[in-house]
Amino acid sequence: MNMNLKNFMNGHLPLIEKELEFQIQSISAPQPLKESMLYSVLAGGKRIRPLFLLAVLDFLNEQHKDAYTIGAAIEMIHTYSLIHDDLPSMDNDDYRRGKLTNHKVYGEALAILAGDALLTYSFGMISRLPNLNSDSKLDLIQAFSQASGAEGMVGGQVLDMESERKKISVTELEFIHKNKTGALLEFSIYAGAILANATGEKVDALKNYARHIGIAFQIQDDILDIEGTSETLGKTAGKDVASDKNTYPALLTLQGAKDKKEWHINQALSSLRTINEESGILDELAAYIINRSN
Ligand code: IPE
Ligand code: IPE
Ligand code: MG
Ligand code: MG
Ligand code: MG
Repeated sequence: MNMNLKNFMNGHLPLIEKELEFQIQSISAPQPLKESMLYSVLAGGKRIRPLFLLAVLDFLNEQHKDAYTIGAAIEMIHTYSLIHDDLPSMDNDDYRRGKLTNHKVYGEALAILAGDALLTYSFGMISRLPNLNSDSKLDLIQAFSQASGAEGMVGGQVLDMESERKKISVTELEFIHKNKTGALLEFSIYAGAILANATGEKVDALKNYARHIGIAFQIQDDILDIEGTSETLGKTAGKDVASDKNTYPALLTLQGAKDKKEWHINQALSSLRTINEESGILDELAAYIINRSN
């Protein structure tokens, strides 16, 4: 990994973890619910969404006191989406982030409810941010709700489930990836732009970057399901073929998926070039997400 990115991650990751733990510990909830929430949220994970948010601030030479809290809120929605994605009625997975899935440990009812609780709490967190004006909070809440719900992640998950064992086109698959995975990544990048008070072409360029990053990220997830091992992935490899999922490698071959991923990353990088020759960590994160091994 590039040294700048390594230093960036080493600086931020412990603070992201600390904020996540602090936020969930401060929830007053029945003990088994809290335990189940903590189990999945603190199970590790790359924390790529908060890192993107922080990298946007870095790119725009800004800092914001609420950045970690918003990053934690996004990570909580993301974790909820994983808990539900792993349920027997969805992808039926036994391992996640190197541990047994939430429902394997706490049972389905508590897994569903832990997801529900993470989802709802995250919106309250944004409403209470101490260092942001009300207009920006509303803007964030509106974009967050759109990215997470029927018009974003949840909608994408529905299409993903419905297209199992069916033949769909690459355009349809791109739409699924853009929603089930891209939407929340796009929001993470947009949230960084809001915190930095960015406007006009800067926001447009970042949104365009985010769109391509989101799709490339899920293409790599599809590739890793084939090329990765369960041990490095921390989740069961080979599940997509077994479930007859529509993925980029399934539709385009492994090489075709890799070419598509490169194309999206090049589009993302050239979008940044329109506002800045030197894009620092955002360039390196783009390279990281397509070369990652978990
Ligand atoms: C996995 O997300 C599910 C997708 C949306 C592709 P991540 O690859 O970000 O999972 P963690 O958070 O690192 O576990
Ligand atoms: C999951 O996509 C996307 C969301 C959870 C929103 P996948 O089903 O491919 O993710 P993994 O492979 O289980 O992590
Ligand atoms: Mg899934
Ligand atoms: Mg899955
Ligand atoms: Mg997958």
